Amino acid sequence: TSVHRKGSAMDMAELIPTLPLETGCPPFLLRQYGGYWQPEWVLPGFEAVNTRFQPRPSDVFLASFPKSGTTWLKALAFATVNRAEHPPSGDAHPLRRSGPHDCVKFVESTFALSDEDGDLFAALPSPRLLATHIPYSLLPEHITADDDSGCRIVYICRDPKDAFVSTWFFTKNNKVKVAGSTELLQHPAPSIEQVFDLFCDGRSVSGPQWHHVREYWEESQRRPNKVLFLRYEEMLREPARNVKKLAEFLGCPFTAEEVAAGVVDAIVDLCSIDQLKKLQANNTGVTDLAVKNETFFRKGLAGDWSNHISSEMASRLDRVVEDALRGSGLTF
Ligand code: A3P
Repeated sequence: TSVHRKGSAMDMAELIPTLPLETGCPPFLLRQYGGYWQPEWVLPGFEAVNTRFQPRPSDVFLASFPKSGTTWLKALAFATVNRAEHPPSGDAHPLRRSGPHDCVKFVESTFALSDEDGDLFAALPSPRLLATHIPYSLLPEHITADDDSGCRIVYICRDPKDAFVSTWFFTKNNKVKVAGSTELLQHPAPSIEQVFDLFCDGRSVSGPQWHHVREYWEESQRRPNKVLFLRYEEMLREPARNVKKLAEFLGCPFTAEEVAAGVVDAIVDLCSIDQLKKLQANNTGVTDLAVKNETFFRKGLAGDWSNHISSEMASRLDRVVEDALRGSGLTF
């Protein structure tokens, strides 16, 4: 990881072919970098975040392990931060015309997919809302700085069994074609059991999941003013309470008048999966990565894993995660 932390020890393009490779996890070739498995095509984006991106102390990063509720968090944070300019109940709200992923971009994939030079986020006005799947330990030090120059981070964490099942359907329902995604990887399609084996070995996009969540969890304990740790299942149970927590953390708490006027409830409603699913921006079209927008909105439940993996598979993953999280104070 010297390239990441120190900048230019070795060019990422030279480094990539030397990294451990996993080809059994479609649709991407995965490479192990800094202890995490990543799609090969995204790694130049990691480097760009380190070398080209200029963080501002007012930046807010929405961070997650994939398929853990990122889309929802993007919508909630966007609606909360912009509620003065864009009242959530208004017909013209940007989230009624654009998908959450258009409103808040992933930094590393934006860099990885663009041919343009320089800092692609420089033109965005402050405070900027940005998203990432980059593991905490691989974020540039200027983002995680433990002083006033560091950025705020909101992490969303989900039961790994549901994140796995969500990934399975997302992959099945998309035929993603980018550099590094080859025909070889599409045929024959692996079974859910095969992909699950790899997941339990940490071999999934941004895996191991348990390292990803643990790093952000520990940082949220160490620096609660800079890292907020949210849980998908708790958000489903008490969305309004979590939106209030989010607003406080972001420095824009709801006033008593706003709460009484139903602003929190309007944000929860605007960002609910049922509302978002109905919108044309979310049920048609594809993203930059040829991902079908509709595939970001499936069931949105806690515990759907039990319909798709056996209880033996579930206990196996539970044991792996429990062992890895021991001593952290974080449990599922
Ligand atoms: P399921 O596949 O279990 O339904 P991500 O946004 O990180 O890619 O995660 C996708 C998961 O979040 C999917 O889970 C998806 O249905 C769910 N999701 C998307 N929008 C949501 C929303 N507004 N509320 C709750 N869950 C949502």
